[in-house]
Amino acid sequence: MSEPVVWTSDGSPHSPRFNDRYRSRSGGVAQAAGVFLAGCGLPRRWRGKTEFTVLETGFGLGLNFLTTWAAWEADARRCDDLHFVSVEAYPVAAADIVRSALAPNMTGKTDAPLLARVQALAQQLAGAWQDLSPGIHRLRFAEGRVQLTLAVGEVQTMLERLACEADAVYLDGFSPAVNPEMWSDTTLQAMARHCRAGTTLASYTVAHSVREALKQLGFRVAKCPGLPPKRDRLEAVFAPTDY
Ligand SMILES: C[S@@+](CC[C@H](N)C(=O)[O-])C[C@H]1O[C@@H](n2cnc3c(N)ncnc32)[C@H](O)[C@@H]1O
Repeated sequence: MSEPVVWTSDGSPHSPRFNDRYRSRSGGVAQAAGVFLAGCGLPRRWRGKTEFTVLETGFGLGLNFLTTWAAWEADARRCDDLHFVSVEAYPVAAADIVRSALAPNMTGKTDAPLLARVQALAQQLAGAWQDLSPGIHRLRFAEGRVQLTLAVGEVQTMLERLACEADAVYLDGFSPAVNPEMWSDTTLQAMARHCRAGTTLASYTVAHSVREALKQLGFRVAKCPGLPPKRDRLEAVFAPTDY
């Protein structure tokens, strides 16, 4: 059975399991672009590459994936192939993915063509959505140039099972206070095993414990100004030789 999502009166998706919101109250696409893509140096970093791999913890309603795909599609200098690998223990229903992209509070400062593409791509994603039983699933789009690998299961187990080398990492669990497994030292260690020197990482959380754990693992970490209503966001680069 799909994970239930509760839609609040302002159109925000809420998780009853974690008692937290899937995303910031307003401007979902702008937040995805400003926190995760910009935080990882995208689209610039995928330019001139044959392939580029993003690893995400927490697929949720797929908004980061859809925004990344839309930005890739809009970029004349994009890499040939985009691989998006995401871990999710509790997949939602296809109908919630579409509803999320169409939510009224998605607008914010998002540019209108990007939002329109995210909404169209959400329909494609929903059309390809399958019975996501535990395990590794691959969905292909854009004639195979966009590949989504969904690792369905507990974050640490799936990160240990996955074979991929990440060029960029999006850390997007629920808040560390209610979802500590997504941010534990062992989860972050399992994530870092997929990184190489220069891998960029972004998150909306600047929790001290997360920043310290990333530093211990060899990331250079910066706390950056967030997009309102969020005050801060985190950017990091894997630089193990600095340590
Ligand atoms: C903030 S939401 C992710 C939002 C998503 N990135 C998006 O763009 O819509 C966090 C996600 O982490 C997932 N999650 C929480 N704990 C988990 C765990 N222990 N293992 C795997 N996934 C988990 C939740 O089910 C939820 O979908």
